[in-house]
Amino acid sequence: MVTKQDLKDLISLPFNTMDRRPSFIPIESAHISGISYLNIGDAGIELLSEFSNSGFKVSVPTTMNPGFTEIIKVGQICSIKIYEKQKLIVDLLRKMGINPSLTCVPYFHENVPRPGSHLAWAESSAVLYVNSIIGAWSNKESGISALASAIMGFTADIGVHKSDGRKPKVKAIYEGSLMNELEAGALGYILGEVTGDRIPYVKAKGLTHNHINIIEFLAAFGTSGFAPMISIEGISPVRKLDIEIRDMEVIRISEKQIRSLIEELSSDEEPEAVVIGCPHVTLETIKMISENKKRFSLPTFVFTSSYVKDRVKETKLMDNIEKRGVKLIANSCVMWCGLKEMEIRTVITNSMKAAYYLKNQLNVKTVLKPLSDILGTKWN
Ligand code: F3S
Repeated sequence: MVTKQDLKDLISLPFNTMDRRPSFIPIESAHISGISYLNIGDAGIELLSEFSNSGFKVSVPTTMNPGFTEIIKVGQICSIKIYEKQKLIVDLLRKMGINPSLTCVPYFHENVPRPGSHLAWAESSAVLYVNSIIGAWSNKESGISALASAIMGFTADIGVHKSDGRKPKVKAIYEGSLMNELEAGALGYILGEVTGDRIPYVKAKGLTHNHINIIEFLAAFGTSGFAPMISIEGISPVRKLDIEIRDMEVIRISEKQIRSLIEELSSDEEPEAVVIGCPHVTLETIKMISENKKRFSLPTFVFTSSYVKDRVKETKLMDNIEKRGVKLIANSCVMWCGLKEMEIRTVITNSMKAAYYLKNQLNVKTVLKPLSDILGTKWN
């Protein structure tokens, strides 16, 4: 049996110091990560069952990250066992009142935060987006601390919940001009590695409000770094007084570093499939894919939310992309059971985050290409 005191401990323990427990701050919403059967396995199901059997319900709007498979119907690709285990996880969370959004970009439709609102979100790419682009306030919670906060309605009042905790500690300048989302991702990855847990103030030509560039940049930053936000010049809604860039260490990143990283992480093995949608793609990206005239010659898997997939199904877009050999997958992370079941060893992707996790979690190698190349080169 889990008690409310256990939940309070889960929220504050990571922030306790020898002589002090943090105070709490009310939250307006929560987002839970770590719900894929691939990551939490049977031990995670046991823990979630304990939470659910304790009769807890969330007290603020709460969404959930994607899982290991689609749960619309028993999949033809993934085994019934995996389907049933993933469905059980989702059902346990639903019983606690959590919206089965199953997406890592809930900030677009299912759980849109208000600028200035305090949140308890997990999923690093989403936390970075809500802090850096929307101007909401959330630390990088773990899946379990976000769940405890969602039930209690508050989180630890520390880190970026304080104005002081949002100030950049290092300035980063990109000396080239970013040409696409893959380069934006490579910049994010390098930046995360060199800044560690320090919030950077970033100046980069080519890093614009274009959704796909920003999303890939932030997701890659969250893969290698620990800071929960970035101040991006001309984009982030930061107040002047939050930026005191005088006397700050300055880091310069060059085009050469970006090119070498892409090369280093790119396999020269023959790809067997195309994987797009880490983080989940928006409707705009699906429209872009549907405008591509040629049929993909490799099996092509595009990952998105159920919300977007339902919109696609309402239009001719679904027909268009299916004719091009694209399978649109909702509810699932790109760390998808299908890649494992089909024994796919190398894929093409435009995502640095996918490249990192596919290699480390599924032992799948990646050929890195921007979406424009994937849509228009010899691979299609
Ligand atoms: Fe989303 Fe999975 Fe990538 S949760 S950000 S598709 S690693």
